[in-house]
Amino acid sequence: MKNTDAQFTVNGQSVTVSVEPRTSLADCLRHELKLTGTHLGCEHGVCGACTVIVDGAAVRSCLMLAAQADGCEVITIEGLSNRDDLTPLQASFRKHHALQCGFCTPGILTTAHALLSEEPDADADRIRDVLSGNICRCTGYVSIIEAVLDARAAYGHREAET
Ligand code: FES
Ligand code: FES
Repeated sequence: MKNTDAQFTVNGQSVTVSVEPRTSLADCLRHELKLTGTHLGCEHGVCGACTVIVDGAAVRSCLMLAAQADGCEVITIEGLSNRDDLTPLQASFRKHHALQCGFCTPGILTTAHALLSEEPDADADRIRDVLSGNICRCTGYVSIIEAVLDARAAYGHREAET
Protein backbone atom coordinates (compact mmCIF):
# COMPACT_ATOMS: atom_id res chain seq x y z
CA MET A 1 0.00 0.00 0.00
CA LYS A 2 1.30 3.44 -0.92
CA ASN A 3 2.46 5.55 2.00
CA THR A 4 0.90 8.87 2.79
CA ASP A 5 2.60 11.89 4.36
CA ALA A 6 1.31 13.68 7.42
CA GLN A 7 2.76 16.78 8.99
CA PHE A 8 1.81 17.74 12.50
CA THR A 9 3.21 19.07 15.75
CA VAL A 10 4.16 16.70 18.54
CA ASN A 11 5.08 18.17 21.89
CA GLY A 12 5.90 21.48 20.24
CA GLN A 13 8.03 20.05 17.43
CA SER A 14 6.94 19.88 13.83
CA VAL A 15 7.22 16.39 12.36
CA THR A 16 6.57 14.87 8.97
CA VAL A 17 5.91 11.16 8.78
CA SER A 18 5.42 8.81 5.86
CA VAL A 19 3.04 6.06 6.92
CA GLU A 20 0.60 3.57 5.48
CA PRO A 21 -2.89 5.05 5.30
CA ARG A 22 -4.08 2.46 7.84
CA THR A 23 -1.40 3.36 10.44
CA SER A 24 -2.94 4.51 13.70
CA LEU A 25 -1.69 7.62 15.42
CA ALA A 26 -0.68 5.38 18.36
CA ASP A 27 1.52 3.17 16.18
CA CYS A 28 2.97 6.24 14.49
CA LEU A 29 3.85 7.83 17.82
CA ARG A 30 5.38 4.65 19.20
CA HIS A 31 7.12 3.21 16.16
CA GLU A 32 7.91 6.16 13.90
CA LEU A 33 8.51 8.83 16.54
CA LYS A 34 9.70 6.54 19.37
CA LEU A 35 7.33 8.15 21.86
CA THR A 36 6.66 4.95 23.74
CA GLY A 37 5.08 6.63 26.75
CA THR A 38 1.78 6.25 24.89
CA HIS A 39 0.67 2.74 25.79
CA LEU A 40 -1.48 0.33 23.83
CA GLY A 41 -3.87 -1.95 25.68
CA CYS A 42 -7.04 -2.97 23.87
CA GLU A 43 -6.34 -1.23 20.55
CA HIS A 44 -10.04 -0.72 19.97
CA GLY A 45 -11.00 2.32 21.98
CA VAL A 46 -12.01 0.75 25.28
CA CYS A 47 -9.16 1.02 27.78
CA GLY A 48 -7.92 4.62 27.37
CA ALA A 49 -4.24 3.66 27.76
CA CYS A 50 -3.38 5.27 24.43
CA THR A 51 -4.94 8.66 25.19
CA VAL A 52 -3.10 11.69 23.85
CA ILE A 53 -4.19 15.31 23.48
CA VAL A 54 -5.04 16.47 19.96
CA ASP A 55 -5.86 20.15 19.54
CA GLY A 56 -6.69 20.32 23.24
CA ALA A 57 -8.99 17.30 23.40
CA ALA A 58 -8.25 13.89 24.88
CA VAL A 59 -8.22 11.42 22.00
CA ARG A 60 -7.72 7.65 21.78
CA SER A 61 -4.76 7.40 19.50
CA CYS A 62 -5.55 3.78 18.62
CA LEU A 63 -8.77 4.97 16.96
CA MET A 64 -7.25 7.87 15.03
CA LEU A 65 -5.20 7.46 11.90
CA ALA A 66 -1.84 9.15 11.74
CA ALA A 67 -2.95 10.73 8.47
CA GLN A 68 -5.86 12.35 10.29
CA ALA A 69 -3.40 14.18 12.53
CA ASP A 70 -2.17 16.20 9.56
CA GLY A 71 -2.11 19.85 10.64
CA CYS A 72 -2.94 19.05 14.27
CA GLU A 73 -1.16 19.78 17.52
CA VAL A 74 -0.51 16.56 19.41
CA ILE A 75 0.68 16.33 23.01
CA THR A 76 1.77 13.01 24.44
CA ILE A 77 2.68 12.09 27.99
CA GLU A 78 6.27 13.05 27.17
CA GLY A 79 5.12 16.57 26.34
CA LEU A 80 3.16 17.39 29.48
CA SER A 81 6.25 19.01 30.94
CA ASN A 82 9.14 20.80 29.29
CA ARG A 83 11.14 20.39 32.42
CA ASP A 84 12.92 17.45 33.96
CA ASP A 85 10.87 17.40 37.12
CA LEU A 86 7.34 16.12 37.58
CA THR A 87 4.36 18.26 36.66
CA PRO A 88 2.02 19.14 39.54
CA LEU A 89 -0.39 16.49 38.26
CA GLN A 90 2.33 13.85 38.16
CA ALA A 91 3.59 14.90 41.59
CA SER A 92 0.07 14.57 42.94
CA PHE A 93 -0.17 11.03 41.57
CA ARG A 94 3.03 10.18 43.39
CA LYS A 95 1.86 11.83 46.60
CA HIS A 96 -1.45 9.95 46.57
CA HIS A 97 0.00 6.61 45.44
CA ALA A 98 -2.26 6.81 42.41
CA LEU A 99 -0.37 4.25 40.36
CA GLN A 100 1.09 0.81 40.77
CA CYS A 101 2.22 -0.88 37.55
CA GLY A 102 1.80 2.41 35.68
CA PHE A 103 0.49 0.91 32.47
CA CYS A 104 -2.69 2.99 32.48
CA THR A 105 -1.02 6.08 33.93
CA PRO A 106 -0.01 7.96 30.74
CA GLY A 107 -3.58 7.75 29.48
CA ILE A 108 -5.01 8.81 32.81
CA LEU A 109 -2.61 11.73 33.10
CA THR A 110 -3.31 13.01 29.60
CA THR A 111 -7.06 12.62 30.13
CA ALA A 112 -6.93 14.42 33.48
CA HIS A 113 -4.67 17.14 32.08
CA ALA A 114 -7.07 17.83 29.22
CA LEU A 115 -9.97 17.93 31.66
CA LEU A 116 -8.37 20.25 34.21
CA SER A 117 -7.03 22.54 31.48
CA GLU A 118 -10.64 23.15 30.44
CA GLU A 119 -12.36 22.65 33.78
CA PRO A 120 -10.08 23.41 36.73
CA ASP A 121 -13.09 23.36 39.03
CA ALA A 122 -14.16 19.84 38.04
CA ASP A 123 -15.52 18.06 41.10
CA ALA A 124 -15.07 14.41 42.05
CA ASP A 125 -18.19 13.33 40.16
CA ARG A 126 -17.05 15.06 37.00
CA ILE A 127 -13.55 13.60 37.28
CA ARG A 128 -15.01 10.14 37.89
CA ASP A 129 -17.22 10.53 34.86
CA VAL A 130 -14.38 11.61 32.56
CA LEU A 131 -11.98 8.95 33.85
CA SER A 132 -14.60 6.22 33.53
CA GLY A 133 -13.18 5.61 30.07
CA ASN A 134 -9.73 4.82 31.44
CA ILE A 135 -9.34 1.31 32.77
CA CYS A 136 -6.94 0.73 35.65
CA ARG A 137 -6.57 -2.87 36.70
CA CYS A 138 -4.45 -2.52 39.79
CA THR A 139 -4.48 0.79 41.63
CA GLY A 140 -8.12 1.44 42.44
CA TYR A 141 -9.78 4.67 41.55
CA VAL A 142 -10.05 6.31 44.98
CA SER A 143 -6.44 7.43 45.03
CA ILE A 144 -6.54 8.42 41.36
CA ILE A 145 -9.53 10.71 41.94
CA GLU A 146 -7.88 12.17 45.05
CA ALA A 147 -4.72 12.88 43.07
CA VAL A 148 -6.62 14.69 40.32
CA LEU A 149 -8.65 16.68 42.85
CA ASP A 150 -5.48 17.69 44.66
CA ALA A 151 -3.82 18.84 41.42
CA ARG A 152 -6.62 21.25 40.50
CA ALA A 153 -4.96 24.25 42.16
CA ALA A 154 -2.16 24.08 39.61
CA TYR A 155 -4.75 24.61 36.88
CA GLY A 156 -6.38 27.61 38.54
CA HIS A 157 -8.98 25.97 40.76
CA ARG A 158 -10.04 28.10 43.67
CA GLU A 159 -11.61 26.57 46.72
CA ALA A 160 -15.16 27.79 47.25
CA GLU A 161 -15.32 30.33 50.04
CA THR A 162 -17.25 29.24 53.08
S1 FES B 1 -5.39 1.05 23.37
FE1 FES B 1 -6.59 2.71 22.69
S2 FES B 1 -8.34 2.68 23.98
FE2 FES B 1 -7.23 0.88 24.51
S1 FES C 1 -1.61 1.34 37.64
FE1 FES C 1 -1.66 -0.68 36.83
S2 FES C 1 -3.31 -0.65 35.43
FE2 FES C 1 -3.41 1.27 36.40
